[in-house]
Amino acid sequence: MCGIVGYLGKKEKKEILLDGLQELEYRGYDSAGIAIIEGDKLYNFKAIGKLKNLREKTKAYESEGFGISIGHTRWATHGKPTELNAHPHLGAYSYVVHNGIIENYQEIKEELQADGVNFLSQTDTETIVHLFEKNNKYENSAFAAFEKTIQRLRGAYATLLITESAPDTIFFAKNGSPMLIGFNGDDIYFASSDTPIIGKATEVYYLEDGEYGYAKEGEVKLFDGQGKKNFTKQALTTDKISAQKDGYRFFMEKEIYEQNHVMSETMMGRVLDNSIEFNELDANFFDGISAIKICACGTSYHSALTSAYLFERIAKVRCDVEIASEFRYKEPLLTDDTLFITISQSGETADTLEALKMAKRAGLKSLSICNVDNSSIVRESDAAILTRAGIEKGVASTKAFATQTMVLWMLALYVGQKQKTISDEILKREIDAMLQTPKVLIVTEKLHAKLYRLSKRYLHGHGFFFIGRDIFFPLALEGALKLKEISYLHAEGYPAGEMKHGPIALADSELFTIALMPKSMHYDKIKSNVEELSARDATILAISPKPFELADDFIQTAYDSHPMLEFFEMMVVTQLFALEISIRLGNDVDMPRNLAKSVTVE
Ligand code: M6R
Repeated sequence: MCGIVGYLGKKEKKEILLDGLQELEYRGYDSAGIAIIEGDKLYNFKAIGKLKNLREKTKAYESEGFGISIGHTRWATHGKPTELNAHPHLGAYSYVVHNGIIENYQEIKEELQADGVNFLSQTDTETIVHLFEKNNKYENSAFAAFEKTIQRLRGAYATLLITESAPDTIFFAKNGSPMLIGFNGDDIYFASSDTPIIGKATEVYYLEDGEYGYAKEGEVKLFDGQGKKNFTKQALTTDKISAQKDGYRFFMEKEIYEQNHVMSETMMGRVLDNSIEFNELDANFFDGISAIKICACGTSYHSALTSAYLFERIAKVRCDVEIASEFRYKEPLLTDDTLFITISQSGETADTLEALKMAKRAGLKSLSICNVDNSSIVRESDAAILTRAGIEKGVASTKAFATQTMVLWMLALYVGQKQKTISDEILKREIDAMLQTPKVLIVTEKLHAKLYRLSKRYLHGHGFFFIGRDIFFPLALEGALKLKEISYLHAEGYPAGEMKHGPIALADSELFTIALMPKSMHYDKIKSNVEELSARDATILAISPKPFELADDFIQTAYDSHPMLEFFEMMVVTQLFALEISIRLGNDVDMPRNLAKSVTVE
């Protein structure tokens, strides 16, 4: 998704912008650009594709002295990924960058065109800069013109605007898309998340929806619908090490390997000897709650689906799961005995955020399970449990899924404990299993080597079916999503027992079936389902602790004492399987085509 950076001060601006944009690469983008105003000089560079193209274009340029600057990585929404559509967009004497969607841009654009304004791009963003310049003709200051512009916009946006009519000022506004302001002495920074400014700014302020204002050397003035606003800065973290690749080929690979460590973090202080504790939740948080509704997208949705089995089986609480983008428009019936849970790695997913806002408007109590503190979803929720996975840079989510699922397993036990639906004995057994999870997640050299060797046989075919039952069905969905995201091969997740109701018609030797066959859960049932496929000549890769003689390929897993341990071990296998196939196919695993890390548009 689009990323924004901005800098105001005396330091070299080009490098600050390009480095900042580099830190936002993980969000996904297809073009990038920067604009700088130094006194009466104005510079603008844009390039499609990767940032190295922009670096090449800016090679001969270096900024000098005080100036204002903005930069952007664009993930196309309105208009193709071309240089003309890349940000910053130019008016006659001003530049704008924007993340989000201006819903009423067409109407504004038509008005401006009727006034004779010529649009160069197909974007919604360009309307902002032209509207600003129109307002600037009549208002008595550039800020008044900016304020009037912002008041006219509908939709989600984070935007920065610089103009020759105020060459010492950056104008900013945020509504629905993330943006923060960094501070270090007189230097002011802007960014979509804090990674671009770590090591540069010392303090930060996370803008709230509806806030806007301007920054000059050493000062920031903030406003909202009510007028001028005071704000409190907070210290900015300095920990950037976790954002490096540590010698792995891809961030995704590194993130798969570090799952065992982050899982310990997720459990720390929460999984105790005989109980589960969440300091984040008031003791009476679950009072009056008799049902749970979970909304999420993509991988987060799969962890939600997994948890529905756990909430009902362990905590005996009814649990429904919905894809956030579907939930938004179905006019759902919501009752206030329902706890509304959102799950999100980024905390910025527009569909999930909007679902949460709907639930809040209906008066539901809300809880978010999220990896990013201070994100929009966390701030919008009544309570939040952080997954503590650390920065996840690979677009294909791995450790976020593992930690989300762990938090949800813990939460199911916590609710069972609170509502006394679980015996001490079962609680103890679950906790014992939980504490073994980090060990299960260790990637051994042997396993990785095996998947590397085996991957070469799975680079073609007419499709993959990942099949499983019970909690292994959402894991099958997740395994298929991982593979299709980074390999671009067609893959589906299916409940194993449902294959015979249609998809088995596809079975032949070129149909690859990845069968999740846990020993501790419905083994005989899934075995029969796989036998049915094998009888129709489908190629079977079985993942199981029990040798399966009809398998064409077989990965033997080690832990079979608890379904969740089998779940996590098989999860790692499917992640490595997707990774190795995709690397063999020569794909950019961390930034797969057409995908964005954080989907902040509908
Ligand atoms: O940040 P979120 O968890 O809300 O993101 C939801 C999905 O966009 C995300 O899980 C997506 O499906 C990933 N690319 C999966 O690998």
